[in-house]
Amino acid sequence: MLTIAVSKGRIYEEALPLLASAGIRPVDDPKTSRKLILSTTREDIQLVIIRATDVPTFVEYGAADLGIAGKDVLLEYNSKGLYEPLDLGISRCRLMTAVPVGQQPVEGRIRVATKYVRTAKDYFARKGRQVEVIKLYGSMELAPLVGLADCIVDLVDTGNTLKANGLEPVDLIEDISSRLVVNKAAMKMKHAAIDELLQILERETKNNRSLEA
Ligand code: ATP
Ligand code: PRP
Repeated sequence: MLTIAVSKGRIYEEALPLLASAGIRPVDDPKTSRKLILSTTREDIQLVIIRATDVPTFVEYGAADLGIAGKDVLLEYNSKGLYEPLDLGISRCRLMTAVPVGQQPVEGRIRVATKYVRTAKDYFARKGRQVEVIKLYGSMELAPLVGLADCIVDLVDTGNTLKANGLEPVDLIEDISSRLVVNKAAMKMKHAAIDELLQILERETKNNRSLEA
């Protein structure tokens, strides 16, 4: 049995067609079912539906053999304990800094609100900027509006959320997409099954890329 960890929501929805290309179709719909383990149309494959930020943990500890996680989550998790063999090209966006429109550059130490604490600290350290990072779990865009922070580090796709809150993107930290991650022991012990799946997903992502080009 192979267990694949996927987060509910955006990544799950975008991963469905990729999984379907390997004959993996969940039997229940996580939107309506309370089940956390989903059987699929492949008897040898099940899905576990978890929070996006928990996917690398489940995979590193072998609770899932494979997982689908955003590069943003993987950067923040920052572990060498799992393989990241494939960029699936889904849930694409950018991890950026953003500030209120027209804000004068802040001298000295800046306050940064984000859920990506480690990634933000590393980024500003590379730039030689002194920062105080304030950890939030969501609605980062609110922080500069209420005086909690000078700047945020968050995901930007269309830019609509920033715009609606009077913010503008400044620096690109990383281009983000979802990646397939694999448990290291499973890669050895279940090599044939994982390799077969990897090849199908690789072919499918290549096809999708050439359709986009
Ligand atoms: P959690 O439920 O753990 O709080 P979340 O609310 O961040 O997670 P989603 O919003 O579904 O969960 O985001 C999951 C992943 O989708 C992110 O880690 C990122 O890789 C990607 N993502 C998030 N926002 C966007 C967006 N606007 N456009 C494209 N991809 C995005
Ligand atoms: C993500 C992200 C931004 C928004 C960016 O939030 O945290 O707020 O998308 O997308 P945009 O540039 O297209 O507006 P999401 O929609 O996932 O909401 P949540 O993180 O609050 O669940």
